Amino acid sequence: MAEQLVIASSELKEERYKTLVPQIEALVAGEQDLVANLSNIAAALRQTLNFFWVGFYLVKNNELVLGPFQGPIACTRIGFGKGVCGTSWKEKKVIVVPDVEQFPGHIACSSDAKSEIVLPAFKSGEVALVLDVDSDKLDDFDETDSLYLQKVMRIVEGVL
Ligand code: SME
Repeated sequence: MAEQLVIASSELKEERYKTLVPQIEALVAGEQDLVANLSNIAAALRQTLNFFWVGFYLVKNNELVLGPFQGPIACTRIGFGKGVCGTSWKEKKVIVVPDVEQFPGHIACSSDAKSEIVLPAFKSGEVALVLDVDSDKLDDFDETDSLYLQKVMRIVEGVL
């Protein structure tokens, strides 16, 4: 297992993601424990991209329950179809929210969060967990984030 994270010196986030993705693959290789893997993935994402908040919500007993994350404390449970996370779960798709105040039903864990991206990971065709990333800047997520974070979710699916 890689014990040190290499972060691309470029300010371009695409370069940072490109350097990060193979390292995430290496981080989870040989480790079976889901919490250990999700914890390192959240930390690697935060270290590399300086996200305000990044973490996982896991489907448990028909609700989303807070899992490994990096950032300020967050709400622990989210219902099916509720907030951005619950909507991503219900609609089984990536959701990018440029301005959280414009998203009906958005759940504000922090008043500093301004924009957000949520991505589902699947097991046997059903959503098993979602990755939630929050920014304290408006409109901070684009196609590059969506593309590379989807690659991260495919790696997560390999360890579910
Ligand atoms: N904003 C999310 C809730 C989770 S926190 O942002 C960490 C939502 O609306 O689902």
